[in-house]
Amino acid sequence: MEKVASMIFHDKKDALGDSLDAMEQEVTKERLLELAALESSILDAVPQAIVGLHKRRIIFANNAVRDTFGWDPEELIGKSVTLLYRNKEESEEIARYFYSTLKRQRTFVNEFPCRRKDGKDILCRMRAARIGDRLKERRIVVAYEDITERRRAEEELERSHRRLRNLSAHLQSAREEECARIAREIHDELGQYLTALQMDVAWLGDQLPPELSHLVDKTRRMAHLVDSTVDSVHRIITELRPILLDDLGLNAAIEWQAKEFQNRSGIDCRIYIDCWDGLIEKDLATAIFRIFQETLTNVARHSGATAVWVRLTQEGDDLCLEVTDNGKGITRKQAEDSRSFGIIGIRERVNLWNGQMRITGKSGRGTTVRVQIPLRKGA
Ligand SMILES: Nc1ncnc2c1ncn2[C@@H]1O[C@H](COP(=O)(O)OP(=O)(O)OP(=O)(O)O)[C@@H](O)[C@H]1O
Ligand SMILES: [Mg+2]
Repeated sequence: MEKVASMIFHDKKDALGDSLDAMEQEVTKERLLELAALESSILDAVPQAIVGLHKRRIIFANNAVRDTFGWDPEELIGKSVTLLYRNKEESEEIARYFYSTLKRQRTFVNEFPCRRKDGKDILCRMRAARIGDRLKERRIVVAYEDITERRRAEEELERSHRRLRNLSAHLQSAREEECARIAREIHDELGQYLTALQMDVAWLGDQLPPELSHLVDKTRRMAHLVDSTVDSVHRIITELRPILLDDLGLNAAIEWQAKEFQNRSGIDCRIYIDCWDGLIEKDLATAIFRIFQETLTNVARHSGATAVWVRLTQEGDDLCLEVTDNGKGITRKQAEDSRSFGIIGIRERVNLWNGQMRITGKSGRGTTVRVQIPLRKGA
């Protein structure tokens, strides 16, 4: 550290010139030594390893180099800074880059593979600053922060995130397949039996003499019941796997769902569709449709709204779905609650398709759910 003090001291002394009288010089010298002492304390107080370089040779180093690199600060003085790096060629390259950048700007940050004295490889975040206004004589200060563990933890977190995401995608598609299978079975088995029953009841009604009016009435009621059951079965099948979605596409399925919702909930549902659904991938159409179903269910269950506006549009290369109600308005806490599984499900679907989602609520003025998904860059 004394080296830093004397460097600064000599520089300043030259600059001061001979015009100051002896006393002034003495005061200035004391002040400079004080500053240098302060500077060396600051350097030793910071947790990052800091070295000063002159033409790539180390001219000072703080105590933290011991923790980060395993070297004593004194051992490093006069040595080439490449001693701290993993790969000599790479370090030459980065040095050129560092110096050329520091000609233009005062500081520069980068990550670089380094090596400790004991040979252990570490990854450091380096922050370099030139000494003085210009890059005179390639004098710079570099602070090294060991980020090996942090990076490892980040990567592990990212991996675990990816695994969860894959699991969620897998579960969703397994659920869709399961729904489709159940829908198919109900349709094939129950549908056929009910049709047979419909025909039998009609036949029975035809066989009965009109004078047995109470039996005729009974068979009519039975026929009516079977008709209602057929309708219910159709509805259940359609909810499990909207056949419209497969047969007629997303737009028709959204229109159908909106009508169904209006009939059943009594909430006025207005839709505006401005997109061509011909080329939308089947899985993406399913995702949008499921998101739409969840938002409508939420409107019916939680909002107390009297009207809902739906917009399905194409904006540039994105498909946008926006559902707005005029109910009580979702709070930020509800929207971000880790137990809001309906909303988490929407978010997961959107993430899988590299899309974006926003939920906003205004107290007493309604809720808007907006999702935007790129049409081309699929999951
Ligand atoms: N349109 C809305 N208006 C007002 N509040 C809403 C609306 N949508 C959701 N919320 C609030 O946000 C919460 C979370 O919604 P979310 O869909 O995640 O869960 P849920 O509907 O309660 O249960 P489920 O898991 O069955 O969907 C709801 O409990 C409700 O309080
Ligand atoms: Mg819900």
